[in-house]
Amino acid sequence: MIGKAKLTCSHLYKWYGTTSVLQDADLAVRDHEFLCIVGPSGCGKTTLLRMIAGLIEVDHGEIAIDGVKVTGPPHNVAMVFQHFGLFPWKTVYQNVAFPLNIRKTNKQEIDKQVYPSIELVGLKGSESKYPWQLSGGMRQRVGLARALVCQPDVLLMDEPFAAVDAQVREILQDELLNIWNKYRQTVVFITHSIDEAITLADRVIVMGAKPGRVVGEVEIDIERPRTIATVRHHDSYLPLRDAIWSMLRTGLEEVPV
Ligand SMILES: Nc1ncnc2c1ncn2[C@@H]1O[C@H](COP(=O)(O)OP(=O)(O)O)[C@@H](O)[C@H]1O
Ligand SMILES: [Mg+2]
Repeated sequence: MIGKAKLTCSHLYKWYGTTSVLQDADLAVRDHEFLCIVGPSGCGKTTLLRMIAGLIEVDHGEIAIDGVKVTGPPHNVAMVFQHFGLFPWKTVYQNVAFPLNIRKTNKQEIDKQVYPSIELVGLKGSESKYPWQLSGGMRQRVGLARALVCQPDVLLMDEPFAAVDAQVREILQDELLNIWNKYRQTVVFITHSIDEAITLADRVIVMGAKPGRVVGEVEIDIERPRTIATVRHHDSYLPLRDAIWSMLRTGLEEVPV
């Protein structure tokens, strides 16, 4: 790996009962890197991300951020969930303010951070709306604003755009690229979509299933700043797609049926 590691996962193992979910998973993420993980359903992607977020325990192995072992939710890490994870009884403002409330931030400081976060994701004017009044795309913008409000340096995203339709998904990808261009957080982004991974990532990790493990990785050598349009027309696009797809297939073929 070139560059300084922000996040390392070393020899991770996880079992649910007697079922092995992750086996010897190794991963290192550079500071300011945008890393995407692709892999089949059930290969342990969500489990891995939740372990990095300190939300579930590691059975064997170690996760470290800035060289410090993760033993609970680290203060500089935020997560965006697949199904938004918003509180239905809270407004947009209250949902975004939630992590700051937990930290007992004062009201003035909360205002100072929440309004810019909401504006950053394009939801200015919707502060007093409830999640049920919003489209799927807007809900996930709230999820992103809530993750960004504490200015995390590691952003964990679990298939954040999987529940929105194809056009909105592409708009959100472009918006995320814009935001990341400004702040350059270290990102671990899980997706089912090879196209999404190539569009966003500096590097793509491919996982295989049963048990979940890392089967390969590909550097995405497409210059930034990127948009979906520039990526899709890039000469490297189809060869990268083929390389990732063949790794995924190898991971699947190794699974006993
Ligand atoms: N809390 C749990 N208890 C038991 N099994 C679980 C639990 N969470 C996930 N699993 C199982 O672990 C495997 C990996 O799940 P998950 O990490 O959600 O995979 P992915 O996100 O790649 O689809 C799956 O077979 C899933 O059914
Ligand atoms: Mg998952």
